[in-house]
Amino acid sequence: MLEPRTDFEVNLVGTFNVLETARLNDSSIVFCSTNKVYGNNVNTVPVHERPTRYLFADHKFDQRVPESFPIDQTGHSPYGTSKLAADIYVQEYAHTYGLKAGIFRMSCIYGERQFRVEDQGWLSWFAIAAHMGKPVTIYGDGKQARDVLYVSDLLTAYEAFLESNVKHQVFNIGRGPDNTLSLLELLRMLREMTGKDPQVSFQDWRPS
Ligand SMILES: NC(=O)c1ccc[n+]([C@@H]2O[C@H](COP(=O)([O-])OP(=O)(O)OC[C@H]3O[C@@H](n4cnc5c(N)ncnc54)[C@H](O)[C@@H]3O)[C@@H](O)[C@H]2O)c1
Repeated sequence: MLEPRTDFEVNLVGTFNVLETARLNDSSIVFCSTNKVYGNNVNTVPVHERPTRYLFADHKFDQRVPESFPIDQTGHSPYGTSKLAADIYVQEYAHTYGLKAGIFRMSCIYGERQFRVEDQGWLSWFAIAAHMGKPVTIYGDGKQARDVLYVSDLLTAYEAFLESNVKHQVFNIGRGPDNTLSLLELLRMLREMTGKDPQVSFQDWRPS
């Protein structure tokens, strides 16, 4: 959000460079897209508030959010916008030039050697803070739930796509409803695992 031009140049121009290279060399593409392409539209879906998390009120989302979920007429953040534009470019290269392209709109990835900062990699950020006895800040009420996906499972999905006969496809990809976690639920797990009480403070919801 502080450097939108850098974001544009890396995410969009960078992806375009990769696409051109793939076109000229007849290569396949796996594109790391994101659930952020749906922008603020996801926040218009009614939810029920439960003690540790929010749940979709509409049962049609119990198992999955479809790839046809709207992307238009909403805020996305500069990151979400550059990722969405790149996502559409990859789709277009698949349509126009016949590239084999898998567009994976990913949820929250976690795994070994994740470089966590406060803005990225929340699961390892919280886990390391709990181990080190460092404080963490929750923006909002901590009931926001995320579909957490182990990085090796994601790589298995990439390989399955590359080995398949599917020419091009957009996938919303997470580990599914049984593997969702709210921030409060992760803190409870960490408390049980480490025997330590993470120091938690709360602040307002953040933009985007
Ligand atoms: N981690 C997640 O939960 C998540 C979720 C959805 C989508 N994604 C997407 O997955 C991709 C990887 O994310 P990550 O979490 O592994 O991030 P990361 O920060 O761990 O890795 C990003 C990589 O990109 C490299 N990079 C940055 N600028 C570059 C440039 N100008 N030229 C070449 N390389 C450059 C970095 O060196 C780093 O290796 C991103 O495209 C991100 O949008 C990640």
